[in-house]
Amino acid sequence: MSKEVVFNSKSPSETIRIGKTIGSSLQAGDVVALMGELGAGKTQFIKGLAQGVGVGKSVYVSSPSFTLINEYNGGIPFYHIDLYRLEEEKEAEELGLEEYFHGEGITAIEWADRIPSLLPGEILRVNIHYTGKQTRSIELVAKGKRYEELLKEFGMQNSLIRVCL
Ligand SMILES: Nc1ncnc2c1ncn2[C@@H]1O[C@H](COP(=O)(O)OP(=O)(O)OP(=O)(O)O)[C@@H](O)[C@H]1O
Ligand SMILES: [Mg+2]
Repeated sequence: MSKEVVFNSKSPSETIRIGKTIGSSLQAGDVVALMGELGAGKTQFIKGLAQGVGVGKSVYVSSPSFTLINEYNGGIPFYHIDLYRLEEEKEAEELGLEEYFHGEGITAIEWADRIPSLLPGEILRVNIHYTGKQTRSIELVAKGKRYEELLKEFGMQNSLIRVCL
């Protein structure tokens, strides 16, 4: 079963483009959990996701540093959650994340590794790693059938450096 797809990005705009491609295949209720060190490109990727979901380009997508959660309307609601400032997982309980995860919108979470026990069992994980100054590896890992199906699409359509089927 298809579980993992890795893209090799050579620029911020390429990362946005990859995000946009994924975003255009997302559905209400989907949860995308991003991991990767400071400045890896999580926000760039989410900018692309938002465009793919249909959030207008003029509606600037930046990281919601102080509010933790930004909500956009892309036809389907799009929630951008950034947990960088979260000190412990317990704090996240007050954010009512369940409502986002099980609601009618699409949710993307930066620093998702800060809430391991609160994440839904079925998610699309996105791990971004530095491979050079301008290059990143973007690893998509499907947890659950819904996302395995989603990744299958990309395994066929895109130029990949690694695909595990
Ligand atoms: N191939 C690339 N893909 C994405 N970003 C890149 C790439 N090459 C260089 N960059 C630069 O890396 C930075 C990525 O910043 P971004 O805010 O997206 O990271 P982040 O993972 O969200 O960081 P943080 O953990 O601080 O939220 C930007 O300054 C961007 O210009
Ligand atoms: Mg960020």
